[in-house]
Amino acid sequence: MKNTVLAALCAATFCGSAFAQSSAPIKVGLMLPATGTYAALGDMIEKGFKLHVQEQGGKLAGREIQYFKVDDESDPSKATDNVNKLIKRDNVDVLVGTVHSGVALAMAKAAKESNTLLIVPNAGADAITGPMCGPNIVRSSFSNWQPGYSTGVVAAQKGYKRAMTITWNYAAGQETVKGFREAFEKGGGQVLKDLNLPFPNVEFQALLTEIAAQKPDVVFAFFAGGGAVKFVKDYDAAGLKKTIPLFGSGFLTDGTLQAQGPSAQGLFTTLHYADSLDIPKNNAFRKAFALAYKQNADVYAVQGYDAAQLLGAGLAAVKGDLSKRDALAAAMRKATVDSPRGKFTLSPAGNPVQDMYLREARGENNEYRAVAVKALADPARGCKL
Ligand code: PHB
Repeated sequence: MKNTVLAALCAATFCGSAFAQSSAPIKVGLMLPATGTYAALGDMIEKGFKLHVQEQGGKLAGREIQYFKVDDESDPSKATDNVNKLIKRDNVDVLVGTVHSGVALAMAKAAKESNTLLIVPNAGADAITGPMCGPNIVRSSFSNWQPGYSTGVVAAQKGYKRAMTITWNYAAGQETVKGFREAFEKGGGQVLKDLNLPFPNVEFQALLTEIAAQKPDVVFAFFAGGGAVKFVKDYDAAGLKKTIPLFGSGFLTDGTLQAQGPSAQGLFTTLHYADSLDIPKNNAFRKAFALAYKQNADVYAVQGYDAAQLLGAGLAAVKGDLSKRDALAAAMRKATVDSPRGKFTLSPAGNPVQDMYLREARGENNEYRAVAVKALADPARGCKL
């Protein structure tokens, strides 16, 4: 008899709740941006997540997956209401989200208070795997500190001494810049000035004029999505690309190269992924993604795919039995994820310990150049488990 029919009979008659529970679909709440400067990022995360589930026949550990969706608009002021739609109204089993650090901080707070499982497929807010860490929270992406730090290592190794930084004035920008500064200063460099503007503003002109006047050896930038497209084009149009090298965490050129055109060509960034990473898992993933969606994968697609892989690993360990929630969460932390970025594990705080790659933008790919920092672990400052 089909599980669904049996479950319906059970619900109506005599079977124990255990069967009904273990045969019902798992409710996954996707809280991602569908509008605004990060809309494309949310779309790629969802596509990556669903690709892995599809590859498993639409099920994880034998359980069907049912999706509930909220567009968080990358708006922190709406985040608590939005996440409560998934937790309280839809009663989801697991939350997957989001892109924007400020929104993700509100999600982590709500997940902790309601003891809901949370898998973060992008937002790097350091606190999520720092002071706010918890056994029910893991990340398939990175901490903001990680790509900032690895870019600082590379910039110092290249011999640059005087840097300026430029970013949006919110957790992701501030923390990425902090990571850059830590490594750059350790390597003998000095940050002359941090420039910033409110998220998601793209009025860069006055700040670019200030960079031109100060003439640092190198500029470090964190922008992503639509804002990154505009920044890279404006930097070039201001004549700066020819005179002052522009470095960034890899989000500056990830998923954006087509729109950035010639302005992005040759830019160096570091990230935990490179399009051209020549390992079997990445080659298979990119092929499957292109086939399924008629577009090329990017880092956000990888993080969505790996969020589903993490959930799958947790569910497999408890044979799909969500009542064993603690064991499920613990199994995610013990998993080795066979990611398109290369295999990774989670730190005790729940953040990927991963190689950070130096990439160069060529055509529509961020091409692998070197390992910038091997197995970089976020310091997880303030995490007490
Ligand atoms: C963040 O807000 O944490 C964030 C957003 C977009 C990125 C990376 C980090 O590409």
